[in-house]
Amino acid sequence: MAAFTERMGCLFLAWLALCLALAQAVDRSNFKTCDQSAFCKRQRAVQPGQSPYRALLDTLQLTDSRLSLQLINDINKVHLLLELYGLQGNMTRIKINELKPLKPRYEVPDVLISDPPTRPLSMVSRDENGAVLALGPPGQRVIVSARPFRLDVMEGPQLLLSVNSRGLLVFEHLRERKDTLSHKISSTVGSMWDKMKSIFSSDTSKDALAGEGAEGADVPAKEGAEKDGEQEKDKDDEQPGMWEETFKTHTDSKPNGPTSISLDFSFPGVENVYGIPEHADNLKLKTTDGGDPYRLYNLDVFQYELYNPMALYGAVPVMLAHSPQRTMGIFWLNAAETWVDISSNTAGKTVFGQMLDYVQGASETPQTDVRWISESGIIDVFLLLGPRPADVFTQYASLTGTQALPPLFSLAYHQCRWNYNDQDDVRAVDAGFDEHDIPYDVIWLDIEHADGKRYFTWDPNKFPTPRDMLQGLEDKRRKMVAIVDPHIKVDTNYKIHNEIRSKNFYVKTKDGNDYEGWCWPGSAGYPDFTKPEMRAWWASMFSYDQYEGSMANLYTWNDMNEPSVFNGPEVTMHKDALHGPWEHRDLHNLYGLYVQMATTEGLVQRSGGVERPFVLTRAFFAGSQRFGAVWTGDNAAEWDHLKISLPMCLSLGLVGISFCGADVGGFFKSPSTELLVRWYQAGAYQPFIRAHAHLDTPRREPWLFGSENTALIREALRQRYALLPYWYTLFYSTHLSGHPVMRPLWVEYPDDATTFSMDDQYLLGRDMLVHPVTEEGSRSVTAYLPGKGEVWYDVHTFQKHKGAQNLYIPVTMSSIPVFQRGGSIIPRKDRVRRSSSCMTNDPYTLYVALSPQNTAEGELFVDDGHTFKYQTDSQYIHRKFIFANQSLTSQNADPKGQFSTPAWLERVVILGAQKPSAVTLHAADGSQSPLEFDFDAHTAVLTLRKPAVNVGADWTIVLR
Ligand SMILES: *[C@@H]1O[C@H](CO)[C@@H](O)[C@H](O)[C@H]1NC(C)=O
Ligand SMILES: *[C@@H]1O[C@H](CO)[C@@H](O)[C@H](O)[C@H]1NC(C)=O
Repeated sequence: MAAFTERMGCLFLAWLALCLALAQAVDRSNFKTCDQSAFCKRQRAVQPGQSPYRALLDTLQLTDSRLSLQLINDINKVHLLLELYGLQGNMTRIKINELKPLKPRYEVPDVLISDPPTRPLSMVSRDENGAVLALGPPGQRVIVSARPFRLDVMEGPQLLLSVNSRGLLVFEHLRERKDTLSHKISSTVGSMWDKMKSIFSSDTSKDALAGEGAEGADVPAKEGAEKDGEQEKDKDDEQPGMWEETFKTHTDSKPNGPTSISLDFSFPGVENVYGIPEHADNLKLKTTDGGDPYRLYNLDVFQYELYNPMALYGAVPVMLAHSPQRTMGIFWLNAAETWVDISSNTAGKTVFGQMLDYVQGASETPQTDVRWISESGIIDVFLLLGPRPADVFTQYASLTGTQALPPLFSLAYHQCRWNYNDQDDVRAVDAGFDEHDIPYDVIWLDIEHADGKRYFTWDPNKFPTPRDMLQGLEDKRRKMVAIVDPHIKVDTNYKIHNEIRSKNFYVKTKDGNDYEGWCWPGSAGYPDFTKPEMRAWWASMFSYDQYEGSMANLYTWNDMNEPSVFNGPEVTMHKDALHGPWEHRDLHNLYGLYVQMATTEGLVQRSGGVERPFVLTRAFFAGSQRFGAVWTGDNAAEWDHLKISLPMCLSLGLVGISFCGADVGGFFKSPSTELLVRWYQAGAYQPFIRAHAHLDTPRREPWLFGSENTALIREALRQRYALLPYWYTLFYSTHLSGHPVMRPLWVEYPDDATTFSMDDQYLLGRDMLVHPVTEEGSRSVTAYLPGKGEVWYDVHTFQKHKGAQNLYIPVTMSSIPVFQRGGSIIPRKDRVRRSSSCMTNDPYTLYVALSPQNTAEGELFVDDGHTFKYQTDSQYIHRKFIFANQSLTSQNADPKGQFSTPAWLERVVILGAQKPSAVTLHAADGSQSPLEFDFDAHTAVLTLRKPAVNVGADWTIVLR
């Protein structure tokens, strides 16, 4: 009896522990681990070092910039076609597909901005073991080894990276499904199959053979190998989850069977890899041995957990590999569910170091190995060979485009909550900002503004006269953003639904009916945004006559576009849903990009192509930077969520998406006042700054926390507004170059290993270093100021600090530690008004921070802030400011620029200066005039008063 009770007690405790664990991990259990994803599990079970793939060198063809070559899997005899392209700008593209697939496999459209320009390849040598090709840039070669197949990219004697060096290339070929009976049997486990197999074996192997495409193979196989192949094949076919897979209550029918692909890449000499957003994790990616791989599968994750590799709302399959010697990138162009494994010999693994033993002293060389696994499509991968971080950004931008230049207002402050209830509420909140003298540009409406969650409509009781409301905002030169989600209420009284249905624009189920899922409006259809005709129609819905109550100052927010399907598998769309001929499985990660693309197009078209759009998206893919801003989704009012917003946006910036922000204050839960203030202070220095809050949280407009905190938030936002000229100039430069706005330190200091895993501070452009306070109750932060021989100036005190040191900074609640790099010139507008467009013609101040050599440089970009005229009519001013030889000069950085502005230069503040005896302004017309100045000997700050020159003019100021 005693024993029994004890046992019961133990069981009870175990049960309790399980319940507690479940209560905390409820959300996680909605989403698959690699083990629960059949293809990931299958692929991950493949061990390194046993590649069955061999290159058939006699099929090798080289035509100008394209190498083609067949690969054969020596086990199942399936032939693959490898294509390798030399691309301009130090890039190589590798495509691998089945030589003769049963039907076409999906290739990602609409992400590359054009066919990448090629450059010739040439054969250096070849023999029976392989071939060596010259890539173009001096000394760059690709070595193709035949058995097992692998590629090694060299520069001179140095191995840059290897492909399939671990033999993890796996290409699951399309095959015919066996008859239902044997299929059922094959999906049951164990010995049962072995018994039954003999009964059905002759039939099934014949079927299987027909499906292998082996008959189409050009190279005759040895008989013995063929036989082994069949047996292997049967074993292959036995694996569970190949033709059907069930997760929780959802069964994924897999009419095409197994289609997954995998390939490995090794980076000798590399210890740091970055990118592959979106994950709530540190900037520097971790090794995944012993845990799950990083997952890329756009998902609406409710209350996401931090510091793990789970998938989130967006996916950019781009990874950067960095060492002090070199920076490179991999762009894996595949939109299906993808997992990325990372291992490293320096993280306690030496086995891979041994494998590449022809690398000099392999066991000593640090190395990072990655394996990419996708559920379908083809292998299409771009190797971006750098060599510097800036080169990789340029290379990637040449493929997928750069960040769209945002309208200036969208870089200012956005006020959002779910929901501003009605027009009175909007008016009151808007007035609150003026009353409390806090600048803001945009007020946002979430889903409750629409009539029963029918997007493109307004709730007739709460928002009866939207144009009046918008006009009220316009009168104050402010804007509104209203949400338009891609789930469309199934309601025959709803025009949008009726049109989509009648035009046959909805995504279909596997059986050909309109796909319906459960979302905010209840039962909802999902438009097939992959169809160009659908996108064109969607765009036309934003015209002022279609979108009733809309005006030019109404912009758009696309949420839930992963897409979120409340009752779908993993809260998203069924993978066997159909987009024309393609399964949702093939293109899942592209859906959100298409939604934002179509919406952006709508906002452009409604203005006749004149006005720049603003569209915020939650889901994204490679190339989404061309369509607007992203945010990090439904975060929480917790300190760790504030902290993680830095690496999350930094990771996005590295892969082209610079316009990133996190919900200020945290979406779920209610922030402490301290957290809210700190979040505003941090957000003021992130590219997209929007406060947002869940419906159930108490109101948190900036003035609700006592006058002291109102003042702190006001000050943070005023700093944002004053710096808008710098932000705008940075975005212009990013728009041209693809270099991130918000940068990890290593991007500018690629040799400084101290910076490689830093993600609690960052650079804005090259010239501003931000170390926000992200710890509760902080009395100090320690910032690392990079750059041996450089200096940094505290932007608040103007105190000068040496580079290459850790700086201890005592902080109070008003502190936002920010530094300007010595050697830079930053433009500001120090007169902050109620919105950014009220500041259009306001004068500028230049902050000149002198380097130890008494030099400095900076830039300024100005246009009308909202049209495409900078592009179509060269309507812009692009100045370059240079301080050298005791003179500050304003030069035209781009003589094509035609724009003019009444804005003038009201002040120049020179940090780290000496006292001059006289200061003279030399104007463009040759006239000279003395300038008044103040010199503060204590701070070494020289302030030049009222140069009063137009900001677009040429001038020089000479100090004597
Ligand atoms: C290409 O690579 C070479 C050698 O690493 C380098 O010198 C050159 O600057 C690179 N060019 C581009 C466009 O990235
Ligand atoms: C500064 O003066 C030196 C020596 O006269 C000259 O070589 C240099 O070009 C000058 N720099 C600028 C930016 O004018």
